[in-house]
Amino acid sequence: MTSEQLRQYLSFYQDLGVKNIYRRAPASQPAVPPAVIEIVPLAPADDTLARIREDIGDCRRCGLCEQRNKIVFGSGNENARLVFVGEGPGADEDAQGLPFVGRAGQLLTQMIEGTASKEGIPISRADVYICNVVKCRPPENRTPLPEEMEMCGQFLFRQLVALRPKAICALGSTAAKALLATKEGVTRLRGNWHKWHDIPMMVTYHPSYLLRPYNQNAKREAWDDLKKVLHFVYD
Ligand code: URA
Repeated sequence: MTSEQLRQYLSFYQDLGVKNIYRRAPASQPAVPPAVIEIVPLAPADDTLARIREDIGDCRRCGLCEQRNKIVFGSGNENARLVFVGEGPGADEDAQGLPFVGRAGQLLTQMIEGTASKEGIPISRADVYICNVVKCRPPENRTPLPEEMEMCGQFLFRQLVALRPKAICALGSTAAKALLATKEGVTRLRGNWHKWHDIPMMVTYHPSYLLRPYNQNAKREAWDDLKKVLHFVYD
């Protein structure tokens, strides 16, 4: 890799807000570090989901690897016009290796399919793409730590660049924080369009939050947000 290629490579990630670039450990760690740092040769211009998944490998870049069962990369239509981003896998997702398959996932499916059908938009969950900020389950479903979000965030950013959706829907405050680098809460961010780079992005409540019985107003608001997103993307 020439120094110009290296400069372009680093500036691409800087633009995406990535501060730390990881280095893949060589198969057998040499006793003396190599003179030239071997950076994984990513090709952002024609990056693919398969390539990103391959780069994640059997990831041990942060502590979340210790207790995870399966890495949850993401699932859905790879040509999706709409991408949903959640926080991180829960117990069901960790067991199956798929995002949003537990109770929150069932609600997300209902939200997508219920709103679409009410609004006369012929899509189902299989038409969108769904992924998370962190790909491994945080112990006891705790909120991911900033360093875990940053480490895994580079893969989320690459997924979004590779997918190039017409819009992104961030579910909850962890996804909003990761993508907007803001400390504002969901209540203030939701309902309005933001941008992740040049891609329009809506923030709404996380389905787990909506499952709590005292959040009925939030449920109505989330349905309104989703209606906006679906019309923007599919009209
Ligand atoms: N909650 C999330 O944020 N993501 C999942 O995949 C499941 C539950």
